[in-house]
Amino acid sequence: MSGGGERSGEAETKHCWLGTYMHVVVVGLMLVLDAPVFTNVHVSAEKCKPKNISAKYQHCGIHPDGVHNLDCFRKSKKDEKCTWEPGVHGSKSYTFILQQVDKAHCVAYYNLTKPNQKLRIFDYNFTVEVIESSAGEANCTKAVFSGSKKTLKRSCGPPSKVLPTRTPGALQVNVTWLKEDGNNRISVRYRALGSRSWNETVESQLPNAAMVEKLTPSLVYVVQIQCVTTAECSQCPWSENYYVPSELTTQPIIVSTKYADIMQKTGCRLISITWKFPVKDLYDGYRVTVWKESGEPPQEQLTTSEPEIRLILSYSAYRLNISAYNNASVSPAATHVIPQHSFGDGRLNATVHNSTAFTIHWRADRVRKYVCYVVEWMKKGHSGWYQSFFEDTEASKTVSSLSEHLEPYTRYRVTLHLRPNKNTCNMKHINNSESTYGSTEFYHTEGSPVSAPANVSFHNVTLNSATLQWSHIPEEDLRGFLLGYIIYYTEHHYREASTAHNVTVDPGSTSFHLEALKSGTAYQVQICGFTSEGEGIRSNPSVFKTDQKVNFSIRGAIAAFVVVASLLAFGSPVIKRAKAILWPRLPNPGHSNAVRKIESPGQLILEMEAAVPPQTLSSMLPHVRTCEDDTLEMAHAWSEGDGDSAADDDTADTLLDTQRTHFQSSPFTFAGGYTTMEMFQQLTPQWVAEGGSNIKGEPEDLTVLKSVRLDYVRQFSTSPPSDSEFTSTLL
Ligand SMILES: *[C@@H]1O[C@H](CO)[C@@H](O)[C@H](O)[C@H]1NC(C)=O
Ligand SMILES: *[C@@H]1O[C@H](CO)[C@@H](O)[C@H](O)[C@H]1NC(C)=O
Ligand SMILES: *[C@@H]1O[C@H](CO)[C@@H](O)[C@H](O)[C@H]1NC(C)=O
Ligand SMILES: *[C@@H]1O[C@H](CO)[C@@H](O)[C@H](O)[C@H]1NC(C)=O
Ligand SMILES: *[C@@H]1O[C@H](CO)[C@@H](O)[C@H](O)[C@H]1NC(C)=O
Ligand SMILES: *[C@@H]1O[C@H](CO)[C@@H](O)[C@H](O)[C@H]1NC(C)=O
Ligand SMILES: *[C@@H]1O[C@H](CO)[C@@H](O)[C@H](O)[C@H]1NC(C)=O
Ligand SMILES: *[C@@H]1O[C@H](CO)[C@@H](O)[C@H](O)[C@H]1NC(C)=O
Ligand SMILES: *[C@@H]1O[C@H](CO)[C@@H](O)[C@H](O)[C@H]1NC(C)=O
Ligand SMILES: *[C@@H]1O[C@H](CO)[C@@H](O)[C@H](O)[C@H]1NC(C)=O
Ligand SMILES: *[C@@H]1O[C@H](CO)[C@@H](O)[C@H](O)[C@H]1NC(C)=O
Repeated sequence: MSGGGERSGEAETKHCWLGTYMHVVVVGLMLVLDAPVFTNVHVSAEKCKPKNISAKYQHCGIHPDGVHNLDCFRKSKKDEKCTWEPGVHGSKSYTFILQQVDKAHCVAYYNLTKPNQKLRIFDYNFTVEVIESSAGEANCTKAVFSGSKKTLKRSCGPPSKVLPTRTPGALQVNVTWLKEDGNNRISVRYRALGSRSWNETVESQLPNAAMVEKLTPSLVYVVQIQCVTTAECSQCPWSENYYVPSELTTQPIIVSTKYADIMQKTGCRLISITWKFPVKDLYDGYRVTVWKESGEPPQEQLTTSEPEIRLILSYSAYRLNISAYNNASVSPAATHVIPQHSFGDGRLNATVHNSTAFTIHWRADRVRKYVCYVVEWMKKGHSGWYQSFFEDTEASKTVSSLSEHLEPYTRYRVTLHLRPNKNTCNMKHINNSESTYGSTEFYHTEGSPVSAPANVSFHNVTLNSATLQWSHIPEEDLRGFLLGYIIYYTEHHYREASTAHNVTVDPGSTSFHLEALKSGTAYQVQICGFTSEGEGIRSNPSVFKTDQKVNFSIRGAIAAFVVVASLLAFGSPVIKRAKAILWPRLPNPGHSNAVRKIESPGQLILEMEAAVPPQTLSSMLPHVRTCEDDTLEMAHAWSEGDGDSAADDDTADTLLDTQRTHFQSSPFTFAGGYTTMEMFQQLTPQWVAEGGSNIKGEPEDLTVLKSVRLDYVRQFSTSPPSDSEFTSTLL
């Protein structure tokens, strides 16, 4: 019985022996092919006689500086191998001897150059010897390993694939193993590039993935991975080094965007976008993700090594995300939105049936050429909806069963794009695969505007004309297609009945030149937009007044006369002061003063000390308007202070309202009840502007006056103005 067993064993052995031999030859050939540089190195396997071979390398000792760490393990059922580490002075040429003592099998491999060797062992005890020789066979070291197939350790890894990903301040390592290694928990050791020692080793809780934390984003790291030893994996060799580039933390900056129409391709535009990345040399390239704002797939990801991209896109709205990337991280993205470019040239019409259906019509000449289309519709500020369709007979398409109902009073923009595809009509790529045919707008239900044109203003007012300006009504307030504006203007008289006029202007205008007006007449203006559903809200009445037919030089003369008359009326203190005016002291802010007050409505008293340069006064005086009405009204308004007065029909009040607004917005404010020099100064250019000429208040003068005013307040509160003060009365 035992003999038969032995025979069959022998037969198997013979068979395996042949296998091993052939295997050795193959390995030998591979090694020869692998190392063509070492032309004189020849690797071969030879049968050996155990006694002979032992004797041959008897003199080779086991030495810590020699070949060491010889280990043999099993990768899989038929994959066993031994590895070792070279000695310090090794020539890196090894002799590998495998002996299976019980069966008297002995095979030797000579002239190995790599520190590992595959082997085939049978179910017997075996011994492996590796001899490293230098300076000929005389000087050699050896390493010995003994084991049996049963006790052979199983080794797992290193991982076949390592994917490091940097997240802020951390590193995620995902690995893949060869099939026979199964799934394993992993240990990761890491060090910053340039650092000698490994930092701590991080062991994962879950298989195949580990997280290393508290890393410095700007550093490049080196990592190695091994499995965590278990019963199945008693051996876990470290992997090779993996270099993890630094974390990309800054986003690219878009430098320029250009949208250019393409001559040969109507309905397409060439989009050129360039950007820069503030950090150099840390990235491998850029990743650009492009998709339609409507959300229609595909969302295409393009990579480029240059900081620019050129795309041929339709007039639809698109969104781009641009990031830099390296093999471990992706930078935050810079986003760019390419707005829709709409054009309505009557090629596309839309008819609304109800809140869930509408039909679009296009020209019949397209039918033969294109069969794939996409219709997009959107309301302002929304990404919109889309439907792609196949149509080869009619030049119209009804879009029905809308998931989101059409809202009344809301403008929808609908666009038709053509697709060169023939089959599914869905886009396969974003670039260069669609052109825009046309777009149009529609309302489900129209209404009239719910707001009025804003910012109504008047410019270039003359004796008989004025330019009226306003701003557009926002689209969401129009609630229909704007057909134009109506300007209502009325002559404004105190007691007489007023005459109403109206004029209609086209919807594109925001200004109108009103002509043939009466001079010196106040006009009240209101303006509104209108749609097919009628007029919208009118703007609040605003009033302007055409110029008086008063000659400018006559006004000046009257003003001068008034001043002179006042001077005379107030006699000797004036003459005293006149000296000071003619030979002025240097202005001294500590003493200078401009004192004014209103003694009674309609009377303006100007008190001033010599510090006010006489030329300031004289340059102002000719421009002072002397129209009694105006001055009275103004004084009335001023004495009211800054308080709001209801916008009643009073022309003068409205006019003054406007002027008061100017005062408030000026850097010089003044206290209610007192009429100050600043006010006087402020008013002057105002009046002059109306008169058609202009003087700008000299900044230095104003500054002096401002400081003077504060000074006045102080003086006034401590000592009342004495008779030494120069007093001038205007009217
Ligand atoms: C090996 O042994 C055989 C005899 O079994 C002998 O003839 C031969 O010379 C020996 N070779 C060496 C290198 O010692
Ligand atoms: C090993 O290589 C040397 C040359 O480096 C050669 O002389 C020797 O014959 C080779 N040994 C075997 C067994 O092929
Ligand atoms: C292998 O060696 C062990 C001791 O190291 C021994 O117990 C065992 O019997 C041997 N096996 C064979 C098949 O010789
Ligand atoms: C032999 O090798 C050892 C180390 O492996 C070295 O120190 C010694 O100098 C070598 N001797 C000769 C003769 O080359
Ligand atoms: C990693 O090692 C370096 C130097 O060896 C040390 O400065 C650093 O603090 C270590 N980092 C961590 C997270 O242990
Ligand atoms: C990442 O890329 C760098 C070169 O840019 C390379 O040196 C490194 O090995 C790569 N790392 C991995 C994990 O692929
Ligand atoms: C888009 O298509 C145009 C024309 O085929 C081509 O010139 C351009 O390079 C493409 N852009 C990208 C990013 O592939
Ligand atoms: C669209 O409507 C306009 C005006 O009603 C008309 O001139 C044009 O021919 C229409 N276009 C189509 C394609 O029906
Ligand atoms: C006022 O008139 C000037 C010169 O005639 C002109 O340049 C300017 O545009 C006009 N302003 C308005 C608002 O019409
Ligand atoms: C009115 O004018 C102000 C200031 O010039 C501006 O901020 C505002 O946007 C304008 N309003 C409209 C509706 O255009
Ligand atoms: C506009 O003026 C015309 C006469 O010029 C008048 O017939 C019409 O009714 C006016 N329209 C409005 C809305 O007042």
